[in-house]
Amino acid sequence: MNRRAFLGMTAAGAAGVVLGDLLGKTKQILPGGSQVATADVANETISFYGAHQTGVVTPAQNFANIAAFDVTTSDVKELQELMKQWTEMAATLMAGKPLAAEPQDAKFPPTDTGEQIGLDTGKLTITFAVGATLFDKEGVDRFGLRAKKPAGLTEMPIFHKDTLQEQLTHGDIVIQACSDDPMICFHAIRNLAKAARGVAHLRWQQTGQLGVKSQGTKRNLFGFKDGTNNPALNDENFMKNNVWLESGDGAAWLAGGTYMVVRRIHMRIETWDQQTYSDQETIIGRQKVSGAPLDGHAEMDQPKFSEDDQGKMTALDSHIRLSNPRAGESSERERILRRGYNFMENLDDVGRINAGLLFVCFNRNIQTQFESIQKRLTNPKLPDQMLAYTDTTGGGYFAVLPGVTAKGSYLGQGLFA
Ligand code: HEM
Repeated sequence: MNRRAFLGMTAAGAAGVVLGDLLGKTKQILPGGSQVATADVANETISFYGAHQTGVVTPAQNFANIAAFDVTTSDVKELQELMKQWTEMAATLMAGKPLAAEPQDAKFPPTDTGEQIGLDTGKLTITFAVGATLFDKEGVDRFGLRAKKPAGLTEMPIFHKDTLQEQLTHGDIVIQACSDDPMICFHAIRNLAKAARGVAHLRWQQTGQLGVKSQGTKRNLFGFKDGTNNPALNDENFMKNNVWLESGDGAAWLAGGTYMVVRRIHMRIETWDQQTYSDQETIIGRQKVSGAPLDGHAEMDQPKFSEDDQGKMTALDSHIRLSNPRAGESSERERILRRGYNFMENLDDVGRINAGLLFVCFNRNIQTQFESIQKRLTNPKLPDQMLAYTDTTGGGYFAVLPGVTAKGSYLGQGLFA
């Protein structure tokens, strides 16, 4: 098992997690757990370096901040310099260290904005990905990178019933910051955006959160457990087959990366809340409290769709049945790794609750995995019943860059080579 996979698996527990603090003291607990942390060390950090980036198979931290950027420069060298700078910054931020030593030069604006001082890093991960428009925008090869465009990377299409808003959709680069402290996520995005000025600017930003102290699988805002039948994060075989890209997957430079799909899905909370308890369970295809399938007893029981071809137990247009019909090999090949967050914002301009799911998933092939599922969910002939309670307003498709394995190397290096 490589170091990244190991850290991803164990970041929630003690083993493998690097403990440090903002003053620069660090202690690493060895995989076997043999290193004992001293009492003054409280801050858990995840190493930036590894064959894959973090924030994919890392157990979901409680908060996320996803920010998309438009690249404003037309000079590829400036873009390359930004990637170098972001690489160093991300490694520093994830290590829980300040971006500039104190005291900073009083004659200039602070290099590090400072709101994270004294806070735990909260297992911060920062994940970088690029969109199709970086390679080709309206037919223009902006940076001479068109030939490097990954075969499966397109702009996110408009699916049936989508109400995408331009200012919440697409982007040349996306950064996902996740931590157990929302201030830490904000601080990371803010400082990365500050460093990018003149080269790239923020296009959209979306925060998300999960229940902080929850027992078991966390819930979405429809009140259901979300993630029950997600693949196990330590299932290396699954990640190899369905998540991580290999050199033959459409762009050799992207090996070790993955494709990320983001969908900002507004939930019609007020309408949902008027549905009966049993209708809600029918729509999802699971029991509300336990998360068990409708024909099962425990959360992890598998539904037996093959014994229910009329959909008497689990409706044919329920969310889980359409998402995963359990049709053998083909369903297994389609499976994605979901890593979404709830968003809860102020009321919209007509007084409705502005909340929903910041759906994020990772997969090796957007077309044969995410899109294949999504097209079933939005098929006008038999749409997902849940579609009546959601409006997708933003998001995009992005290629997560391979990890950076050593100091001196940088994000997207293979792209510029
Ligand atoms: C607001 C939007 C959505 C909500 C509230 C939602 C909710 C849920 C819930 C409650 C489950 C059952 C528990 C679980 O196994 O995780 C589930 C499963 C699933 N969802 Fe969604 N979901 C949403 C959007 C989507 C989208 C856009 C996709 C992908 C195109 C998707 C794909 C899946 C998949 C693949 C499963 C697992 C099915 C299985 O293997 O049993 N979901 N979702």
